[in-house]
Amino acid sequence: IQKGPLLYEGKAKKIYQTNENDVLYVVYKDSATAFNGEKKAEINGKGILNNEISSLLFEMLKEKGIPTHFIQRISSREQLVKRVSIIPLEVVVRNVVAGSLSKRLGLKEGIEIKKPIIEYYYKNDDLGDPFINQAHIELLEIATKEQLAKMEEIALKVNDILTKYFAEREVRLIDFKLEFGVAEDGTILLADEISPDTCRLWDAKTNEKLDKDVFRRDIGNLTDAYTEILKRLGGTVPCT
Ligand code: C5P
Repeated sequence: IQKGPLLYEGKAKKIYQTNENDVLYVVYKDSATAFNGEKKAEINGKGILNNEISSLLFEMLKEKGIPTHFIQRISSREQLVKRVSIIPLEVVVRNVVAGSLSKRLGLKEGIEIKKPIIEYYYKNDDLGDPFINQAHIELLEIATKEQLAKMEEIALKVNDILTKYFAEREVRLIDFKLEFGVAEDGTILLADEISPDTCRLWDAKTNEKLDKDVFRRDIGNLTDAYTEILKRLGGTVPCT
């Protein structure tokens, strides 16, 4: 499969067309951003770590029957995915209070949540990705009721699988964000990436943060944290 023209450049990835209409080429960049793009940095090798971690996790989820856009990892920074039309929604699943939930409700970070909480954010840079509910999703015609129910079902399954998978590797899955797309035949597929950029991951023994909060809060070295996650998942850092 050959890489075609650039289709879209986001904060962390570039998407290219290919010579096959329903296949896209994803290239992971080294840029790190936080707070809706206000904080930015280039971190050498971050794209490689995220491509490795996300490829590993999508491969595993695919094997467990989760419908995803992932086709295959093709190099240290690149993967092939099915073309989907991205639903402009960030679906966040929370197992432990942290981040914006802790701020919004005035709860301490680290409180266990008995039944996972699902939240929706409208993916819109100009509006700063606002927190929205099901009625807002219908009003904005972002997704149908059926599509939303499907996304929730997949999100909870992914949470079960990932929570166990990380726990076996001494990592607590605190919360994470998923994105979905609609394939040409109308099926909802899990899309985008799953990496320490999009998950909160704490060491099971020490609660050390091994995710993007290290960068957001300037509390350590992002490369070391992401490398630790890749190692725990059984992966190795490729020498470019
Ligand atoms: O900031 P907040 O606590 O709402 O984030 C919840 C989860 O969603 C975190 O794991 C965070 O990394 C992820 N997230 C994301 N992209 C965003 C916002 C949040 O991956 N734009």
